Amino acid sequence: MDYDVADLDLAPLGKQRVDWASRNMPVLASIRERFEKERPLEGKRIAACLHITTETANLLKTLKAGGAEVVACASNPLSTQDDVAATLVKDDEIATFAIKGENSEVYYKHMDSVLDTHPQITMDDGCDLVSRLHQQRPEQLKNMIAGTEETTTGVIRLRAMEADNALHYPIVAVNDANTKHLFDNRHGTGQSTLDGIIRATNILLAGKCVVVAGYGFCGKGVSNRARGMGAQVVVCEVDPLRALEAVMDGFRVEEMAEAAKEGDIFITVTGDRDVLRKEHFEVMKNGAILANSGHFDIEIDLKALAKMSISTKEVRPLVQEFEIPDSQGSHQVLVIAEGRLVNLAAAEGHPAAVMDMSFANQALGVEWLVKNAESLDNIVLGVPQDIDQEIARLKLETMNVSIDKLTESQIEYLSSWTVGT
Ligand code: ADE
Repeated sequence: MDYDVADLDLAPLGKQRVDWASRNMPVLASIRERFEKERPLEGKRIAACLHITTETANLLKTLKAGGAEVVACASNPLSTQDDVAATLVKDDEIATFAIKGENSEVYYKHMDSVLDTHPQITMDDGCDLVSRLHQQRPEQLKNMIAGTEETTTGVIRLRAMEADNALHYPIVAVNDANTKHLFDNRHGTGQSTLDGIIRATNILLAGKCVVVAGYGFCGKGVSNRARGMGAQVVVCEVDPLRALEAVMDGFRVEEMAEAAKEGDIFITVTGDRDVLRKEHFEVMKNGAILANSGHFDIEIDLKALAKMSISTKEVRPLVQEFEIPDSQGSHQVLVIAEGRLVNLAAAEGHPAAVMDMSFANQALGVEWLVKNAESLDNIVLGVPQDIDQEIARLKLETMNVSIDKLTESQIEYLSSWTVGT
């Protein structure tokens, strides 16, 4: 088996951590048990381009239990947990190509190694694999059955492909499932983003001014968690509806030009480029901390920051200080994890309990695609509602939460239009 990981000797630690994560992934475990019996993915070649974490390992093992031949590479150069990559190869015989800190050349080489296996199904996080397959290996597209996409940014790129008539096989947008974005994007990103910032800097959040750029589900989660830890939170938005939501959720909403002068910590979660740029760096407070939790490292204009700085140095692992000249002399701005996904680069990503639902959607989404792909158009599809509902039901069950049922008369009332007050 071909593979490329940092150090196979890390496998025992990786296995222990993967098992630990599995304790909080009971929905995925129940799917794995069924997959072992029914083998719904028998013989299917799946290429997974995901963050190589303990939670992802549990997903890949589930796909393998369902009969799939699985190969994996990283969906971000900094998010790989090297011990997990090692156990995937050594203990699970899953060909894995991922090394934490790999440069861009190796990142794409790893993706190519995965594509060399001629997959029939892609499981992507950010659409890099699908994009590369379509652009560089059109001859392989005829083999494709279907795919899934994990994240908001990836779904946006896929919709652009669909609009261009460039998409060659159906892809399920896992991100659009309620049991994904309402929990993973909000509670997962909310907690793990602050976790990454705290691990990297050990700062106290109470009393700090935290500026959150973007008030989608991720921004909502980050803002609420920061407020919960005693920070004063300022939200920046470009969408009037989201800005209004933020105002009525009790946050101060400002333009970045203003917020840039006030923030102690800046967190970007917009999915767009150059959210923090030259004119903002110029007016920031001395010691301002910048972190990105959007999928790509484009939200902080690091080129501009490097260009305007007189010096730069690493002041702590994963913390780079930039010295910017100003009318008083100079001020310093600190960037965490090279502006890459802070929750995965500086912490462990979302906790297993939310990834349980996200990855249950992945596993059941692939099973559904294998059954239905022939009748599907080459478009971006939602996770079927019954799957989404079933995951919510199962998750509640594993949490020992029971809910009410409608009575007969309530069902009748809801289906009637003749009964009034
Ligand atoms: N995305 C965010 N957190 C993650 C995790 N723990 N594993 C895989 N992908 C993730």
